[in-house]
Amino acid sequence: MSRKYLIAGNWKMNKTPADGADLAKEIAHFVGKDEAAEVVVCPTAVALDRVAHVIEGTAVKLGAQNLYPKASGAYTGEISAEMLRAVFAKYVILGHSERREYFGETDAFVNEKVRFSLECSLNPILCIGETLEQREAGETLEVVKTQLLGGLEGVEEANMPKVVIAYEPVWAIGTGKTATPEMAQEVHAAIRSLLAEKYGVGTAERVRILYGGSMKPANATELLAQKDIDGGLIGGASLEGKSFCDLIAAARSAD
Ligand code: 13P
Repeated sequence: MSRKYLIAGNWKMNKTPADGADLAKEIAHFVGKDEAAEVVVCPTAVALDRVAHVIEGTAVKLGAQNLYPKASGAYTGEISAEMLRAVFAKYVILGHSERREYFGETDAFVNEKVRFSLECSLNPILCIGETLEQREAGETLEVVKTQLLGGLEGVEEANMPKVVIAYEPVWAIGTGKTATPEMAQEVHAAIRSLLAEKYGVGTAERVRILYGGSMKPANATELLAQKDIDGGLIGGASLEGKSFCDLIAAARSAD
């Protein structure tokens, strides 16, 4: 497969800068300069700078968990793309279901952020996924389609290789319930065909689609073996060095 596996840790609202630096040290030590799989850590905003220093000189990359789609100004509590770039962030998670649920983020707002991040040379990780209610009502593919196309509105084909999609079924996040590899693959394949319809097969084949939702070393190999699963966006299992490094190892040996 020509797509490089990507393992991204979403630390969410966990780890002080000091604890984050310790975790990053463990990951940086494990990864070194090995680029067989791409590795990204996404600490909280206050830990970004410190983690950036820890991973400097290694293949581990830095991601943020959010940004505000304006250059600068009176937006109390928000963080700009320029600030993220200044601490050497390369990626930014956008449209996570927790932000959609607790902070009312809409597809239109997520789309603004996706376009803004691309303008500012940050690679967006666009999160999409259905709730349990929606899955049980048979609405999964419809929901995923609306969020995907809504999030990518106005994004040009030339920018698509920089975009990462994360399929995160909301019912699998932090619950210990994982989508079976077949369930996940079905949605990943549907996402790729939507991308192919919009951007052409060649471009769709280059876009990485991550799975997220209770991914851990015990289920990673099977998930990563699916044709359209190109890595993971990991919450709980990214907070501990051993389990995150085991996930990186699983991605290195996946094909
Ligand atoms: P968990 O791995 O804890 O289920 O979280 C997944 C997630 O939301 C990553 O963004």
